[in-house]
Amino acid sequence: MVVISICSGKGGVGKTTVSVNLSVSLSLFGRVLVIDGDIALPNLHTFFGIDDPFISLLDVLKDTSYLKDAIHRMRVKMGNESIGELHILPSSASVKALEEINVENFKEIVDDLRGKYDFVVVDVAAGLSKYAIIPMLISDVSYLVVNPERASIMDSQKVKKIAEISGVRVGGVIVNRYRGEKGMVDYAEKVIGREVVGIIRESKLLRSCCEDGTPVTMKKPSSNVSREFFNLARRIVGDDVKVKPYGKLKYYLG
Ligand SMILES: Nc1ncnc2c1ncn2[C@@H]1O[C@H](COP(=O)(O)OP(=O)(O)OP(=O)(O)O)[C@@H](O)[C@H]1O
Ligand SMILES: [Mg+2]
Repeated sequence: MVVISICSGKGGVGKTTVSVNLSVSLSLFGRVLVIDGDIALPNLHTFFGIDDPFISLLDVLKDTSYLKDAIHRMRVKMGNESIGELHILPSSASVKALEEINVENFKEIVDDLRGKYDFVVVDVAAGLSKYAIIPMLISDVSYLVVNPERASIMDSQKVKKIAEISGVRVGGVIVNRYRGEKGMVDYAEKVIGREVVGIIRESKLLRSCCEDGTPVTMKKPSSNVSREFFNLARRIVGDDVKVKPYGKLKYYLG
């Protein structure tokens, strides 16, 4: 089992979007659990169309619920084809609950999952608070999501340093909301010092799927933006895929 954390310096760059669609794409390769590790501001469940979760990661962290009761099971369908099952461990927002939990329990939870999944994807909070650092530290490999802008890339460089000082391997950089900015992919590689393993275009289709609560990789698997997520997953499992946008960059076509 490999535990993959999806991190960033700056907020709002697309970590949850990437975590969701990467998890769907990885389910073509094995058993996947995606965890909402953004325990202060969780929203991963909404991307899957799940209403406020009744039992969540917070209850497991507080030791008031069993892990198995907090996991949602979802059929992965791509168009009309059923691919398999994706498991989702949502979190729920509660300031009071947040005060009661021990974030270090996160490690124990992940240890309990060993052997049950091939991939565990953790959507991590932005920045360097303890809520971001602990979920990142329990992962085997971390990927940094950036937007093609200097500030976003510089902030992720700091996260990379912390990850490496703490012994977490940084597997690469994912450039999200790409609109063909010349030189930004090379700039990200140079500043962060890691390969760009995925380029995801700016996409109106992707945005509307996030709002609808169905991942674009399930709703429109043949769209260019979905193919970019499939290529990212292939790259992460070790296939030798060339990292480039899929077809023409047309925002409205996704
Ligand atoms: N490639 C894209 N094209 C268009 N819109 C996108 C793209 N990626 C993300 N978005 C939109 O950007 C917004 C922020 O995305 P998301 O919630 O995934 O970011 P985040 O990094 O998880 O944010 P936070 O740091 O607050 O957790 C969402 O409305 C999402 O639909
Ligand atoms: Mg998020």
